Amino acid sequence: MTRALHIGLLGAMPEEIGSDLSHLRQLSSSTHGDLTLHHGVWGDGIQLTLAWSGWGKVCAARAATRLLAAAPDLDLLIFTGVAGAANSDQNQWDILLADAVVQHDMDASPLFPRFTLPPLNRDRLEPEPDWFTWSVQALKSAAGNGELQGFGGVSSGLIATGDRFIGDASLRQELRDALPGLQAVEMEGGAVAQVAEQEGIPWLLIRVISDGADESAAQSFTDFVQVYEQQAWRLIEALLRRLNNP
Ligand code: ADE
Repeated sequence: MTRALHIGLLGAMPEEIGSDLSHLRQLSSSTHGDLTLHHGVWGDGIQLTLAWSGWGKVCAARAATRLLAAAPDLDLLIFTGVAGAANSDQNQWDILLADAVVQHDMDASPLFPRFTLPPLNRDRLEPEPDWFTWSVQALKSAAGNGELQGFGGVSSGLIATGDRFIGDASLRQELRDALPGLQAVEMEGGAVAQVAEQEGIPWLLIRVISDGADESAAQSFTDFVQVYEQQAWRLIEALLRRLNNP
């Protein structure tokens, strides 16, 4: 018999996964300072370890490291939550899967080209192709089945991470100019991807657009996450359901 899959799930805020853990059975938790890791079983035995990391790259990297240490048998680490649109084709509620992630505030030039992560000697990190293809197909099939009503379209593209909330159209444009193909900005995914990459664990980054990364971003974000909290788990379940039946 094959071992049950063990999935790690991180979001910055409770609103980004849904703070209700009643979907899980056999719940247990461990506390590490101000971080709690929750473990439970979903569906036909999928093991889930999940946590709310807090905002920003340091919190995200710390939570990812703790989660990986607590779950040495982890098969996949998913970071999910909301993001600001960097491309006008992306609208509120659209689902975006990173086909690559870059840390827009990493700059060790002139020693390394701008954005390059020195330990990996690369700027863009890409998810493992099989997991990435599975996740795109899973969410497209869920959307096609009507399981994601209220969400927008499902697409994939470049996401940029940095320790800055982008609420300024000119800054958004600068990032777009520096990072061709940029679709969205957020504050954690690149850090989690880097930890997972350095630890040799497959990762996925899945975001839902909450705002336009412009002058109205703070208000849009605040309003959006209040509503999103009730919807976030549907996105996760759409994926988990297809782990049993890909
Ligand atoms: N997460 C959601 N919206 C964001 C924005 N505008 N900038 C950075 N992170 C975000």
